[in-house]
Amino acid sequence: MPTISSKGKKMPESPIRKLVPYAENAKKRGIELYHLNIGQPDIKTPEVALNAIKNNTINVLAYSRSEGSEVYREKIANYYKKNNIHVTSNDIIVTTGGSEALLFAMGTIADAGDEIIIPEPFYANYNGFSTASGVTIVPVISKIEDNFALPPIEAFEKLISPKTKAILICNPGNPTGYLYSKEEIEKLAKIVKKHDLFLIADEVYREFVYDDAKHYSVLNGFGLEDNAIIIDSVSKRYSMCGARIGCLVSKNKEVIATAMKFAQARLSPPTFAQIASEAALDTPQSYFDEVITEYKERRDTLIAALSTIEGVKIASPKGAFYCVVELPIDNADNFAQWMLEEFSLNNKTVMVAPAAGFYSTKGIGTKQIRIAYVLNKKDLIEAVQILKEALKAYQQSH
Ligand SMILES: Cc1ncc(COP(=O)(O)O)c(C=O)c1O
Repeated sequence: MPTISSKGKKMPESPIRKLVPYAENAKKRGIELYHLNIGQPDIKTPEVALNAIKNNTINVLAYSRSEGSEVYREKIANYYKKNNIHVTSNDIIVTTGGSEALLFAMGTIADAGDEIIIPEPFYANYNGFSTASGVTIVPVISKIEDNFALPPIEAFEKLISPKTKAILICNPGNPTGYLYSKEEIEKLAKIVKKHDLFLIADEVYREFVYDDAKHYSVLNGFGLEDNAIIIDSVSKRYSMCGARIGCLVSKNKEVIATAMKFAQARLSPPTFAQIASEAALDTPQSYFDEVITEYKERRDTLIAALSTIEGVKIASPKGAFYCVVELPIDNADNFAQWMLEEFSLNNKTVMVAPAAGFYSTKGIGTKQIRIAYVLNKKDLIEAVQILKEALKAYQQSH
């Protein structure tokens, strides 16, 4: 019998998707589901992007350049300039989603057994990318009581070893919704420069910040030209998750030259999707104003509704479209499954993502769930009402 790699066996299951069979069964039983579990926005993709595909007259769907089309990268550089990030097209490699940019970044900077420090809870697929790259994630715990602010810098210092290659942050955070302040980025800049580490910043939710807060990119003038690597994506920015386009950005020429070899090995990012993504850069500001207002209202609606449930702890999110909530129960995994298997209110139930899968340290976050506020306000209110009743019923029966 041929055997599977130990790396393959170690690849983690997605915590977001593992409840899917229970959800499918619930649907088969005729139960309607509110999906609070997954970051698939219901927002319309900008017309300009869709039209660029519809009106296209391409005869041969050819490969593009490995680093992405020149015109597209020029336009991305221009987008960054508007965000006070001064890069040229030479500092950008277009990737198949932010996902591939993360893989390229890890492949570029770390060998098997090297370590990357990440504040937890973190985007669960970092586990998958690091396993695939043979990299060890060293978690540093951020706390729900602090809204998941940056842990004290001493906590990072303690974890730095000769194997440490980078600190990875997600800003604004998935699953936390936390937005790092200028001071927090300054602290990170200081520590990575002191220890000659890379600072990988996953900024795919850059536009999604609320309450007039300001997003600080690691390339917003912190002197991190040698250290910073930005991970970016069109998936959430333009509600184009299926386009599969992202990019890796760095002013460090060696990083770009090395990532470029990974890019060459997979030939090119998707051609049609680059056309759509290039056009998406002409999306009018009014689109973003509407989308951000909508998410802000959803966040406020969600927090207000959750606050009526006794015993919950809510991390107040300032960005992205996620929120971590601690429930007055022992095990959110069991509860999430129970809601799908045994509970319904007026023939409806709710699917949430248990948050333990967003932690790397075993045994923490077990009472927490992540809610993605990607539903309209009316549905959000109803979904939280169902969650509230489910909690009551669960507490009585367990
Ligand atoms: C924080 C974060 N980074 C990266 C990604 C990867 O997205 P994509 O590969 O669609 O660009 C996601 C997707 O949900 C995400 O939430």
